Amino acid sequence: MSVLFLLYLFVSFVRIESINFVEVTATGETQTYEEQQDAFAPVPVAVVIKNGRSSWVDYYWENPETKELVYQGKIDPRGTTATSSYVGHVFVFTPMKKSTKKAFARIEIKADKNLYILPLGKKNRKEKDLKYYQSLLEEEIFVEEYKKKTGKPIQCIWGGNKSKPKKWLAHYPRSPPILHMWSANHVGQTHHVTSNEYYWTCIPDDITDANAVQQCRDNKPLSITLQVLSTDPKVFQIDNVTSLLCVLECVYHTKVLSEVEADLVISLAKPKIKRSLAGTHGGLVSNTRTSKNTWIDRNEHAVMETLYRRAADILNVSESILYPTKNVEQLQVVIVFPFHQQKQHKLNMSSRVLFASHHDFGADGNPQQRMITLLFYLNNQASPNAGGETIFPKAKDGPLKAHPGKGNAVLFYSMLEDGNADDSSLHAALPVKEGEKWIGMSFPYFRKSCKCFHFVCLCEWQ
Ligand SMILES: *[C@@H]1O[C@H](CO)[C@@H](O)[C@H](O)[C@H]1NC(C)=O
Ligand SMILES: *[C@@H]1O[C@H](CO)[C@@H](O)[C@H](O)[C@H]1NC(C)=O
Ligand SMILES: *[C@@H]1O[C@H](CO)[C@@H](O)[C@H](O)[C@H]1NC(C)=O
Ligand SMILES: *[C@@H]1O[C@H](CO)[C@@H](O)[C@H](O)[C@H]1NC(C)=O
Repeated sequence: MSVLFLLYLFVSFVRIESINFVEVTATGETQTYEEQQDAFAPVPVAVVIKNGRSSWVDYYWENPETKELVYQGKIDPRGTTATSSYVGHVFVFTPMKKSTKKAFARIEIKADKNLYILPLGKKNRKEKDLKYYQSLLEEEIFVEEYKKKTGKPIQCIWGGNKSKPKKWLAHYPRSPPILHMWSANHVGQTHHVTSNEYYWTCIPDDITDANAVQQCRDNKPLSITLQVLSTDPKVFQIDNVTSLLCVLECVYHTKVLSEVEADLVISLAKPKIKRSLAGTHGGLVSNTRTSKNTWIDRNEHAVMETLYRRAADILNVSESILYPTKNVEQLQVVIVFPFHQQKQHKLNMSSRVLFASHHDFGADGNPQQRMITLLFYLNNQASPNAGGETIFPKAKDGPLKAHPGKGNAVLFYSMLEDGNADDSSLHAALPVKEGEKWIGMSFPYFRKSCKCFHFVCLCEWQ
C-alpha cells in the first residue's frame, strides 16, 4: 500500500558546510553537535503524477548522466503514481508498450511544483475524458492555492536556501484525520499518558497458566512521557516510563518496552525474517540496503496483545482500531545489517542519507494513507558510532537524528492536521556500520471505509 521509491543520487557539486544536528542518544539525552555535510546535496521532493487519459501509460526516468531512459512502471488509466525525485530530473511518458519514440509527454521536476498532470491524447477527447481532465485541472488549482495559503516558508537544510510553502501531497480531496494527533508546539514540550498495559518481566513457558503469567507481570500502571523532538515534522521521543503507585518497592523503568518484551519481538521475528526489498517498481531499486523484514500479528503472542494496547495508549487512539482489518498493519520488524565497506566508499555521508530517504505515506491515489509511525528500537547500538540512527533531513528545527536505544520509541506523523501529507516527514535510516539493528514499526493509517448498497455508497473516514 505504501509505496516507497528510492532514486539513485547523482551529486554533481559539493559544498561542505557545518550543520547542527540534534541527537537523541540511548541514555535519552538530547544533544546538539556539528557535523560536516555537503550543503548542496539535493533533497528529494515528493512528486505526484496523474494520468488524465482513459488508457494505460508507461513511464521512464531519464538518467541525468547517460540520458538513458530507465523504465519505471505503468500508470493506470486515470491513475496516479507517486515518487521521490530531485529538481531537474526528467520523466518521459509513452502510451503503454509503445516505443519511447512515441513519447507524448516529458516533465522536468521543478522545485515549486509537485503535481504533474499528463495531457490528453487525440483519442481521449470524449466528453467524459474532458470532464475528468477538467477535474484534474481543478485539483491543480486547489494545490496551487493551498501552497499560497500555507505560504509559511520552510528552510531547506540541504539543497541550498530554498524557502518553500507546504504543498498538497495527499489524496485529493480529503478531510482532516480523525485519529488523535498530539500537539507539538515547541521542542521539549511533553505529554503524559498512563497505561494499564503493565510490563512483562519474564515470558511464561505456558501463557495459559494464570499463576505463571502473574509472576511474569508487573502490576503497576505505567506513566509514559512523549517529548517533542521536532515541531515540523512532528516527532516525539517516548520515554520517562515509571511504574506509578509504588510506595515501598518502586521499580523505575525508563523504557517503553521492557528488556524481555523487546527480546521477545526479535525472537518472534527471527524465524520468519526474509529478504526485504527496498522499494518496488522498475529499474531504480537498489540492492545496497542490507535489511530483512517480517510482520508480526497482534494475536501471535499474549505479549504482542499487551504491546498493541500500550501503543494505543501512547497514540491516544482506541485499541479496537489497531487490527489489520481496521486501521493498522501488522507490526513490521526489520533487521539491518552493516553496510558493506566496498559499497560505502562510493557514497559519502549526505548522499548515503538521501539515498534511502523516503516518506511513509503513499500519495499514489489511494485514499488510505499511513499517518502515524511508531518506531520501537529493539536493541542497542553496538557502539555510539555504530550508525543506524533515524534521521529527519527536513526537520525545521534542524536535522534530527535519533537512536534512543533498546526498548525506547520514536513517534512521528506523516500527515498534517488539515489532511495533507507532510513532506517534512521525509526520513531515512543511517547505515549501520557495526553490529545489527532491530526495529519494530507500527503504521496506523487514515482510511476511508465505504458500505455500498445498490450502487449507493456511504463512506466515512476512520
Ligand atoms: C538565505 O535566504 C535568506 C532570506 O531569503 C537570505 O537573507 C540569506 O542570505 C540566504 N542565505 C544564503 C546562504 O544564501
Ligand atoms: C516524567 O513523568 C512524570 C510523571 O508522569 C512527570 O511528572 C515528569 O515531569 C516527567 N519528566 C520529564 C523529564 O518529562
Ligand atoms: C485520550 O486522552 C484523554 C486525556 O488523557 C483520555 O481521557 C482518553 O481516554 C484518551 N483516549 C484514548 C482513546 O486513549
Ligand atoms: C562526498 O563525495 C564527494 C565526491 O563523490 C566528495 O568530493 C566530498 O568531499 C564528499 N563529502 C563528504 C562530506 O565526505
